[in-house]
Formats: sequence, C-alpha cells, structure tokens
Amino acid sequence: MSTTPSPSPSIQTDTLTQVVGWRRHLHAHPELSFHERETADFIHATLESIGELELSRPAGNSVVARLITGRPGPVLAMRADMDALPITEETKLPFASTNPGVMHACGHDGHTAILLGAVRELVARRDALCGEVRFLFQHAEEVNPGGAEEMVQRGVMDGVTRVIGTHLWAQLECGKVGVPSGAVTAAPDTFWITIRGKGGHAAIPQQTVDPIAIGAQVVTNLQHLVARGVDPLDSAVVSITQFHAGTTHNVIPESAELNGTVRTLDAVVRTELAARMERVIRGVTEAHGAEYEFIYERGYRPVVNDAAVTAELTEIVAQVCGREALAPMRPVMVGEDFSAFQQKAPGTFVFVGAARPIDGAVHPHHHPKFDIDERALETGVRIFVAAAERWCARGAL
Ligand code: NI
Repeated sequence: MSTTPSPSPSIQTDTLTQVVGWRRHLHAHPELSFHERETADFIHATLESIGELELSRPAGNSVVARLITGRPGPVLAMRADMDALPITEETKLPFASTNPGVMHACGHDGHTAILLGAVRELVARRDALCGEVRFLFQHAEEVNPGGAEEMVQRGVMDGVTRVIGTHLWAQLECGKVGVPSGAVTAAPDTFWITIRGKGGHAAIPQQTVDPIAIGAQVVTNLQHLVARGVDPLDSAVVSITQFHAGTTHNVIPESAELNGTVRTLDAVVRTELAARMERVIRGVTEAHGAEYEFIYERGYRPVVNDAAVTAELTEIVAQVCGREALAPMRPVMVGEDFSAFQQKAPGTFVFVGAARPIDGAVHPHHHPKFDIDERALETGVRIFVAAAERWCARGAL
C-alpha cells in the first residue's frame, strides 16, 4: 500500500483522457476571435453529451452551462476562453492546426478542455454540491472589445458570488501554479498618431514641414513620459510599434502615421499617461508648425485579483498541488478580459505552469512554435473541481 497521500481531488482517468483528446481536437481546429462557430458547436455538443446542465448561447459564440443543484448556496462561475490567433503554426505536432494561418498559440484550446473536464467531474459530484456552478465558455478574448463584456451585458454574471479563471502559462514551469494577489494583467490601450506637415522637395527643406523629423521627436519625447513622469514603483509601458511615412528618397512627405500601445496596471496612471501623451504630441508638433491627430482607444481593464478569494484559492491550490507548487508571480503587462467578469463579482485569475520546449526552447505565447505541457491540463481540472468542492460544498452554509 502506498503511503503517498493521493492528490485531492482525484479525477477519473477517463476524464483526463478526454481532456487531452478535447484539447487536441480544438488545437487542430482553431478559429479566430468572433468566428469560433465550430468551436462553440463542439463545446455545446460535448456539454449536451455530459448532460444534467442548463445550456445557453448568450452572446456571440459563447456557451454557458449551469449546474444547478437545486439546493440553496453560492453561485461559483468558472471561465475559459476559446479563440485562436492569426499565426501559421510551426510546431509539427501530430495534431497541429488544420486551418491555415490560424493557430491556438495562447493555450485557449487547453483552457476550454480543462473547463469541459471540470464540468464532467462536477456533474458526477453534484450530490455533494449546493448552489450552482456556472461554466462560462467565452469567445473572443484576443481582440478588443472582447467577448467577456458582451457576456456580462447579457447577464451571465447575474447572481454570481465568486468567479475564477485560469491561464496556462509557458513562462512558468509545469507543476507550478501562480496565484497572484492584486494587479495581475495590464490595461492594453492602443493609440494612433497622424502628424500632418507640408510635403516638398527633399533638397529644399525650408519650404516644407517635415513630418518624419517631427515624428522622430514625438517618439523620443514619448519615451520621456514613463522614464520621468511615472512613479518608479508603478508600472507603465509606452511602445511605438509602427511608423509609416514617405514614398521615395527625394520627397518629404505630407504626413506620418504612428501606432502603438500603452500598458498600465493602475487606473490613475492610465488616465494621466493618456493626457500627458497628448500634451507632448501637441507641444512637439506645434513647436515645429505641424498638425496632429491623436486617437486613444482604451482596451480591457486590468485584471485585479480579489484579496479574499485569492487567499482562499491559494489554500485550495496548496491542497491540490502541494504548497511547493505555489510560485511567486509578478504582474504581466498583457491584456486579458477576465477583468470584465471581475466587475460583477470578486474573482481570481490563476496561472498554471505549462512550459514545454519545442526544438530546444520554450517559446512564448503567440509564437508559431508555442506549445503547452499537457500534464498542466490535469492541474487545471483539479483546481476548478477543488474550488467548487470547497465553495459549493453541501452543508457548508
Ligand atoms: Ni491567452
């Protein structure tokens, strides 16, 4: 007899086999944000085959499954995203994308499979549960305005007392889990700048207002904002990622187009930075006699983990995976619209380590050679199941 304590909760072997199968099916059939029709049909059909659930398609390609126990109790929501990216896969996996130019390069195939696995396990345990477990299969996480906001507007969070979500994370060793408290992901805002000067002959610059030279000053001065304008203990990124102007070597063009992103964790820093950007752009362009247009589009809110839910979920993860599995996790400046659900109920977003090298290196999310370690899928299922067993335990009220 083994003296090793069995991990809690134990998951049916066939569930784990199915989770891997679901993940591979989804991986082979990726669909872009807002176009996840077959993915949603697959999720819906799988949920129907599990049974004992109230199913709906509230918005876009989202699918919601409600496990209603009929006993009074809390409503625990669990979320997975399902969309893929416009990337040509280079993993050479046997279940690589069959949809040219589209790839599950962020692990959302795994998220969906994990949540389906949790559904299967929790339906089998419904007699031990009270209240409701609500499974949110979200479309369009990758593209602003995101699917989460739309789902929230359709009422999927009505009555929810807690919400949890997970992201498989290649930057974290498999077997480790990060349960950060406070700010977790950034507000990913986008901006466009047009600088209008006066075109002319490259050899007669005094008759022109050169939008390239002015644009270069704008780029340089915008870098000053984070370096000198933001508290060193706060976090902010201003990246100019596109600069387009001109057609040939001897013509100064009329205008230049710039584009980029701003990432912040704090609402005040976010608002102030956008205002200061415009002040710098206005100042530099006016000083040189050019005109500007500045469009600033706010992206998702930052994901901010609730202190109380995070503390409880940390204990659940420690119980499920062992305390040594808990990894310190700093905020990441990526965007994630799980934050929309957190507007309606306290919630926590967890990172499950899933690093798996391909061709000798662990490739980052959104890379053509990105892959996950499928052992992480089991960790994800266990965490969701254990959370429901803790928070929706029958007789816990
Ligand atoms: Ni993602």
